[in-house]
Amino acid sequence: MGAFDEWHKGGSWMTTKYRGKFCQQSPCDLWSIQEIIHETKPQCIVYTGIADGGSLLFVSDEMRMVNHDGNCIAIGVDKVIPAEPVNGTLMLKGDSVSDEVYMQILDWTKPYERVMLILDSDHKKGHVRHELELYAPLVTVGQYLIVEDTCIGHTACMDFGPGPNEALQDWLPGHPEFKVDNTRTRWGLTQHPGGYLKKVGHAN
Ligand SMILES: C[S@@+](CC[C@H](N)C(=O)[O-])C[C@H]1O[C@@H](n2cnc3c(N)ncnc32)[C@H](O)[C@@H]1O
Repeated sequence: MGAFDEWHKGGSWMTTKYRGKFCQQSPCDLWSIQEIIHETKPQCIVYTGIADGGSLLFVSDEMRMVNHDGNCIAIGVDKVIPAEPVNGTLMLKGDSVSDEVYMQILDWTKPYERVMLILDSDHKKGHVRHELELYAPLVTVGQYLIVEDTCIGHTACMDFGPGPNEALQDWLPGHPEFKVDNTRTRWGLTQHPGGYLKKVGHAN
C-alpha cells in the first residue's frame, strides 16, 4: 500500500486529533495549511464543513499567531455544530448554501481585508459547485481557496460519483483569477490534489 492508501483505507483520517479534537485531515495537508497561513496572514477564514472542529481550531490557532493584534476570526459552518465549543471561533449552524448562512457569512467577512476559504462540507459535485459560486468571490487577492477531498472518486471512495474534483474542473476555467498551486501537495500525501488555489487577481 502507498502512503495515501495507508492513510485512507487504514482509517487514520478518522483518528487524527488536534488539541484533543478530531480532525479529518492528513498531517501533510495540515502542514500545508499552516504554511499558507503564515505566508499569507489571513484575518478571516471561512470553513464550510467542520465536523468535530479540530481543523477549525487548528486554522484559528495558526491565524492568531500571525495576527498579533487579535483582529482575526475563523468562521465554521456545518449542519451539525460540535457539542463542545471551539474557542475563539464563530460557528454557524445550517446548510452552507442557504440564503441565511450566506447572508450571515457576507456580514461577518465584510470587515476583513484578507479572507481565505476552505470548502469541506457536502462533497457532491453540485453542492461544491454551488459553494464555489457563492463563496469564492469572498476570497481576497493573495489569499487561498482550498477545495478539500478532491481525492474522492480518484484515489479514494471510487464509487462516490462526481465530487469536489469534478466541481472544480467545471468551475475553474471560468475563473482565471484562481491558479492551482501544486507546491502545496509536494509531499504526495494529500486528500486535496489540485485543490489548493491562490487568488492571483480580480474576477473579470
Ligand atoms: C468531511 S466532514 C468535515 C471535516 C472537517 N473539515 C475536518 O477537517 O475535521 C463534512 C462535514 O460537512 C457537514 N455538512 C454536510 N452537508 C452540509 C451542508 N449542506 N452544509 C453544511 N455542512 C454540511 C457534515 O455535517 C460534516 O460535519
